[in-house]
This record gives sequence, structure tokens and C-alpha cells, in this order.
Amino acid sequence: MRAIALIAVGLALAGPAPVLAQDPAADRSTARQCAGCHGIDGIARRPDVPHIAGESPIYLRAQMEAFRRGSRHHAQMTLIARGLSESTIEAVIRWYSSIEVSATVPES
Ligand code: HEC
Repeated sequence: MRAIALIAVGLALAGPAPVLAQDPAADRSTARQCAGCHGIDGIARRPDVPHIAGESPIYLRAQMEAFRRGSRHHAQMTLIARGLSESTIEAVIRWYSSIEVSATVPES
């Protein structure tokens, strides 16, 4: 009887899949809509586009919100950011912030 109760508690705790379940392959696929400018690796493909690889999720979130609110304006990014769903924004932030970058400074 006791064992059954413990199993029931265990199942209840396991619950449904967590909302924040990570699926890098799906996030990468979502980020394809950013890749023409920012690269799938977050390294910009155009000189007027910033690199976003490895940026903190806090910074990426703040910039996306600023484009959406209008406190930061750029003809292309404002349109793009305003057209994204919350789950898409979460996916692309997860993708770009999870990329590891390294820096090489010039010899001095
Ligand atoms: C058509 C090209 C283009 C596409 C596609 C694009 N971006 Fe951008 N993005 C830009 C440009 C250009 C800027 C620089 C805007 C500025 O000068 O203020 C920028 C800026 C940003 C910034 C601010 C970076 C910083 O360090 O200031 C973030 C974050 C960003 N983009 C995320 C995204 C995401 C996420 C996607 C895909 C959903 C995306 N962008 C798609 C062109 C693009």
C-alpha cells in the first residue's frame, strides 16, 4: 500500500514535460530566419549587422524588447522583432546565447 502511494507521488512530481524543455535542433531551425543577416552561428554576414553569437540572454531579450517597443528603431529589425511570437523569441535567444565564442586579441 505504501509503495503504491510513493509511486503515485513520484508520477505526480514527474508531471508533464517542463515548459522550458530545450531542443537545440528546433531552436537552430527557428534561427534560420535570422541567419541571412546574423549567420546561423551568430557571426554577422553583412558589415552593418552586429554579431549576436554568445550574447547573454538578458542582453538579447532587452534588445528584442526595445525593437518591439520602439525605444530602439531600425527599419528591418523593428519589423522583424514585431512579427515574432514569444515562443520564437525564446527559441532564437536560447540558440544565439548558447553559442560559444572565443576572442583573439592582437599581439602587443
Ligand atoms: C534583414 C537582416 C536581418 C535579419 C533577417 C535579422 N536581423 Fe537582427 N539586426 C539586423 C541589423 C541591421 C541590426 C542592427 C540594427 C541597428 O543598427 O540598430 C540587427 C540587430 C539585432 C540585434 C541587436 C544586437 C546588438 O548587439 O545590438 C539583435 C538581438 C538581433 N538583431 C536579433 C535578431 C534575431 C533574433 C533575428 C531573427 C529572428 C534577426 N535579428 C534577424 C539585421 C537583421
